[in-house]
Amino acid sequence: MKKIFKWIGVVLGGLIGLIVLLAIGLYFVGNARMNKTYNIQPEAVTIPTDEGSIERGQRWARSLGCTGCHGEDLSGTVMFDDPALGYIPVPNLTAGEGGAGRDFTDADWILAVRHGIDPHEGRPLLGMPSGDYSYMTDEDLGELIAFLKSAPPVENDLGEIRLTFLAKVMLAAGAFGEEVLSAEIIDHSGAARPSPVEPGASVEYGDYLVRIVGCRTCHGAELAGGKHPEPGAPPGPNITPGGSFGEWSLEDFRTAAATRQSKYMPWEAFAGMSNHELEAIYLYLQSLPALENAIK
Ligand code: HEC
Ligand code: HEC
Repeated sequence: MKKIFKWIGVVLGGLIGLIVLLAIGLYFVGNARMNKTYNIQPEAVTIPTDEGSIERGQRWARSLGCTGCHGEDLSGTVMFDDPALGYIPVPNLTAGEGGAGRDFTDADWILAVRHGIDPHEGRPLLGMPSGDYSYMTDEDLGELIAFLKSAPPVENDLGEIRLTFLAKVMLAAGAFGEEVLSAEIIDHSGAARPSPVEPGASVEYGDYLVRIVGCRTCHGAELAGGKHPEPGAPPGPNITPGGSFGEWSLEDFRTAAATRQSKYMPWEAFAGMSNHELEAIYLYLQSLPALENAIK
């Protein structure tokens, strides 16, 4: 009898040892990915200064979700503060104390938003969806940055991001998704960026908007349904004509965009959009092949 217990002990001990080794290995991988230094010279983008451009930039900031994460006045929020996993501040972007706007050059803004890279440290930004924003045209990115630069200064120093050992192990194991360090997936050469499309109620412009707003993050690569990045959230439904969205009229979509509220779907992002932008998104989605629900 005693012998059996001894052997069970040896096997269990060996297993625990292996798991510890695996975790340590993953920790080093996660750590290396977070601290990788990118040396990228962003292409110059003209940042306009006129009122009209700043106003359009403000609408971009709303529809692209910047204000949703960085706060209505862009003074920053806390995404995450948990003793087991760490602390993720969403930085203050204004020119107030503790804000990025205090010392960011135009190239710094472009590096952070288009490339997902921290301009001071060269490391990849974590949880900042630059993968989507990297498709923005120079003109639209310029308007957005013009607005960021015009934000009234607010004092709010949220400090540095900190991830625990466990969080780095989880990061390396893919628990936060493959796009959490968006600098890793962006084509930094800009070759993937589409040529500018004339804004208007067209399928092509809808395609562009769906890409830069990041609808695929939740509705899946084919828009036929996808896993929501937030643990415990319902999946993003099929929004090709193959799902119930196929029966929606443009009016149904406009009404939903103006009135629906949900913890899991950023309906408020549509509030920053004009009528022709909403119509473009509708036309694009309805032009897709009617796919079966990707998530049953
Ligand atoms: C899902 C939440 C989220 C959204 C949406 C988001 N950000 Fe961020 N952003 C972050 C987080 C988190 C960081 C900090 C990451 C880090 O330090 O690794 C960040 C960092 C930044 C930085 C770098 C600031 C600094 O001090 O280094 C800039 C600039 C920025 N975001 C601009 C934007 C703009 C512009 C938009 C909209 C187009 C936007 N963000 C949308 C979460 C978000
Ligand atoms: C953060 C995740 C997330 C993002 C990003 C997102 N959605 Fe959703 N969406 C959801 C979820 C979850 C639902 C279902 C629950 C709800 O409506 O609250 C939903 C529902 C919808 C519906 C209703 C579908 C139906 O059949 O009832 C439409 C239409 C829709 N989304 C379109 C979009 C478009 C267009 C975008 C990009 C501009 C987008 N969503 C971005 C998560 C998301």
